[in-house]
Amino acid sequence: MRTFGHSFRSLTVAARYALLALLAVMSAPVALAYPPAVGILGPARNCLSCHSSDGPWKDPAGLIIDILDKSSGKSLRQGDGTFLISARRGELKTVVTVIGWRAAKEGPSPYRNAWLYVDPKRIPDPGSLNKFAPGWMVNLPMSCRIVGDAVEAYAGAQLTALPMTLRAGDDASDAEIELQVMLTRGDSVKGDAKKGMAGNYFERRVRLKVE
Ligand code: HEC
Repeated sequence: MRTFGHSFRSLTVAARYALLALLAVMSAPVALAYPPAVGILGPARNCLSCHSSDGPWKDPAGLIIDILDKSSGKSLRQGDGTFLISARRGELKTVVTVIGWRAAKEGPSPYRNAWLYVDPKRIPDPGSLNKFAPGWMVNLPMSCRIVGDAVEAYAGAQLTALPMTLRAGDDASDAEIELQVMLTRGDSVKGDAKKGMAGNYFERRVRLKVE
């Protein structure tokens, strides 16, 4: 690994992040099937390129999609339904992605949620391994997680909650990205995104602002 180590050190920090993310993604056995299928491992525009959105979690009154500031616990949702993440250049900013279904709502609860933060403009660009907003570093722009996390603001709900840390680099500017989300239940059939798994797809706009 000497050669790899040497060339790894000579990469910029951003390129290292991208490479590590890619290696992590490539070592996952179902890599093509999960959120990295959008943009990172292929040109799909969103989850609906392969999955259908015909699960039981349609009622907006039951749905929870929130992004919280980790230090204050406050929601970053704005009046127009978008989310605003703002950070000083160089500052590490941690937010928590909360996805789930309210306890009071009838019907089956989701079992596993999957999501991806992506800059749609970068999806078709084969020259970039990084599909997040240019200049912004991020440690975990996507994940897939079993419900069961607890968040004070949504007590009793069937939730996933996971932190993500961002940093506005020297060349970062204000940007708008997408949060693509699927609430799911049941096991999918290998190689067939439309069989076995019930799911509903949602999108949210997320604005990134350099303070
Ligand atoms: C290029 C097609 C494609 C795209 C795009 C895609 N998926 Fe999938 N996905 C699949 C297939 C096929 C499977 C079935 C499992 C397999 O073949 O390994 C799957 C399975 C899954 C599963 C279930 C895995 C399991 O354990 O049963 C989840 C959750 C999932 N996808 C979420 C997403 C989300 C969220 C997105 C969008 C951000 C997405 N997928 C985009 C093709 C895709």
